[in-house]
Amino acid sequence: MHSAMTWDPQQYLRHTSHRTRPFLDLLEQIPELPAGGPGGPSKAPRIADLGCGPGNVTVLLADRWPTAHITGFDSSPEMLAKATELAGPTPGGGHLDFQPADAAHWVPDEPFDLIVSNAALQWVPDHAESFPAWIDALRPGGTLAFQVPGNFTSPSHALLGELCESPQWRSRLGDHGRRFVHILDPADYLIRLTDLGCEADAWETTYSQLLQGEDPVLDWVKGTALRPVLTELADDPDAAADFLAEYRDLLRKAYPPGPHGTVFPFRRIFALATKPD
Ligand SMILES: C[S@@+](CC[C@H](N)C(=O)[O-])C[C@H]1O[C@@H](n2cnc3c(N)ncnc32)[C@H](O)[C@@H]1O
Repeated sequence: MHSAMTWDPQQYLRHTSHRTRPFLDLLEQIPELPAGGPGGPSKAPRIADLGCGPGNVTVLLADRWPTAHITGFDSSPEMLAKATELAGPTPGGGHLDFQPADAAHWVPDEPFDLIVSNAALQWVPDHAESFPAWIDALRPGGTLAFQVPGNFTSPSHALLGELCESPQWRSRLGDHGRRFVHILDPADYLIRLTDLGCEADAWETTYSQLLQGEDPVLDWVKGTALRPVLTELADDPDAAADFLAEYRDLLRKAYPPGPHGTVFPFRRIFALATKPD
């Protein structure tokens, strides 16, 4: 049995601007909410951020909907501890709070104007099975909007999978080789959400991210895809160091530094569904 996966908010926050950009691109596509929009009722919008992490993108929701009551949900105590530093009244008269929740079993117990999730549902194997419950919880005119990484066949993840499944590591790390296969293509998300009676949109973008410093791709994945491996090897620092050295060498070949830094292409999938009025 595996120990619960631990997150490291400081490591995750090392690449904030690249990690935030897709969220801002998603935010731009979200239509006005049933509550609080121009000409709409003056009620404060109610917003959920599922898999909110350290809360740094959750706070951005308050810029767009200043009076909203926003709740970030996450299953990681480490992430929630960091996020909670941001909790409290927002400058526009709204409120921000954070609660523990497992997105795999999260069924909203109140109506929401917006349910948003950024870079989190890839950790929730059957997330598409929850769409009916989440759409059900939206107010008429409300929106479900999410973004998931779609880079699981890219060298960074393929090499990680191959290494985990190699003879040396298979017995300890074999389970971590093929995570994230449950991510759907944009067209599949589009169909599932349209099937639920929503006006849906789905698309993908590959960001050509220019990273700086030594072994920047390794540094990136240490904050995300490597978490299960680092958790598994946490009580064996020598093994963790050996694994990281092997993986680093593979990444150096796959992502050689160029004259301006290291290009790390990153495909992301976006989906948005608005419930009819
Ligand atoms: C890559 S971080 C994204 C954080 C934040 N949304 C952002 O965009 O910066 C993924 C987050 O999903 C959370 N997560 C993973 N599985 C989860 C689950 N089953 N329920 C709730 N949160 C989960 C992790 O704890 C982590 O904080």
